Amino acid sequence: MVKNPGFFIAGAVPRGPGALTDFGYAMERHILEAVSLGLGTCWLGGTFSRSAFSRAMGLRDGELLPAVSPLGIPAAEKSLVDGVLSFAARSRLRRPWKEIFHRGRPGVPLSPGEAGAYAEVLECVRMAPSALNRQPWRVVREESADVFHFYIVSEGGGGEIRLPEIDIGIALCHFELAAGALGLSGSWSGKTGSGGVEGWTHILTWEGR
Ligand SMILES: Cc1cc2nc3c(=O)[nH]c(=O)nc-3n(C[C@H](O)[C@H](O)[C@H](O)COP(=O)(O)O)c2cc1C
Repeated sequence: MVKNPGFFIAGAVPRGPGALTDFGYAMERHILEAVSLGLGTCWLGGTFSRSAFSRAMGLRDGELLPAVSPLGIPAAEKSLVDGVLSFAARSRLRRPWKEIFHRGRPGVPLSPGEAGAYAEVLECVRMAPSALNRQPWRVVREESADVFHFYIVSEGGGGEIRLPEIDIGIALCHFELAAGALGLSGSWSGKTGSGGVEGWTHILTWEGR
């Protein structure tokens, strides 16, 4: 539970294609940096006063404030209420590999063994936080190359703040940081190549070198 945080991380983005994904990526980098300093954080995309933050940040026309995170010292012990709240949010549970990582095409599961050097990278993606822990993204690895296509599989409601777009930005951030830490080089591209999938929205593709 977050109690009287003195500080928040927040950001605003101009409305437009890709903005929420950029925000998710950039905000997660800040959050991970804070966590590496021993600070406590928590993504808040719903349970905060967007209007109060928008006023405090002087949000301009055409800008969105998608989410914030309190910043504080983590409590040494979790309370009973914390336990109940994290249970309600399905905290720590994650979808199994076979549901989210695929080989060649959706429906063919990719095992950690088949992911090779990228197994740890994908595990970091799997553990990425997402709104309501929905993990609304899927990854398809090409059959015989370290090429990974990232898709959104859920629309996430009709509002302006489409949380799945933020969630996939977080997942991309985890992928890139983990690949970098393991010395796996590559770059992002917008091309779907052979990876177009009906009903899923392609966001980005990692082309390993
Ligand atoms: C974009 C986004 C929005 C979120 N919004 C909220 C929120 O409004 N309130 C909240 O308590 N948790 C929020 N969360 C936290 C998620 O519920 C949490 O990351 C998820 O349940 C996984 O929990 P765990 O990392 O503790 O396992 C949000 C997470 C993300 C990524």
